[in-house]
Amino acid sequence: MINVLVAYAGKHGGTREIAEVVGEELRAAEFAVDVRAAGEVDSVTEYAAVVVGSALYYARWRPEAVRLLERNTEALRERPVWLFHSGPCGPGANLTRVSLPARVTLLAAAIDAGRTETFGGRLDPALANGVLEKLMARGSRAGDFRDWDRIRAWARDIGRRVQSRVAI
Ligand SMILES: Cc1cc2nc3c(=O)[nH]c(=O)nc-3n(C[C@H](O)[C@H](O)[C@H](O)COP(=O)(O)O)c2cc1C
Repeated sequence: MINVLVAYAGKHGGTREIAEVVGEELRAAEFAVDVRAAGEVDSVTEYAAVVVGSALYYARWRPEAVRLLERNTEALRERPVWLFHSGPCGPGANLTRVSLPARVTLLAAAIDAGRTETFGGRLDPALANGVLEKLMARGSRAGDFRDWDRIRAWARDIGRRVQSRVAI
């Protein structure tokens, strides 16, 4: 079996659920998949391919996801890596492509990761902590904008790419 890691970082579970669905699709393609919180990943050397995803907060990645890339740059450079982030909410959420934050752009280049995918996010007023989060989760931005079909299709595409790399 080929081992694949799907690591995620977020605050309210929306990004974890995306990672779990990515993991589900990869398992369906017969990979051995670990879906793990980025902060709990010490090493990536046991994996043939790695997916790293973060929620976007104030145009930044979550620190645990950035640290995973920083601490494992060398090892990640030696294996195929895909990055995604989740954030845009409201009308057009799934038409929006968000650029990587500057620090993550540098790390992605060092790792030689492919193009980053942007997925819509979820803003649930019931999960909002504090005034700013409550303000964010109002009006047309409130809701779940994760497009599961797109997420699943992206994961299946990764599965195909990993298979073809391994077959070489
Ligand atoms: C305070 C706050 C700031 C946010 N900043 C951004 C942002 O800069 N860009 C973006 O696309 N989404 C932003 N979002 C939306 C989140 O990324 C979205 O809710 C995401 O699904 C959260 O994932 P999580 O449930 O894993 O924490 C923000 C949300 C909150 C509550």
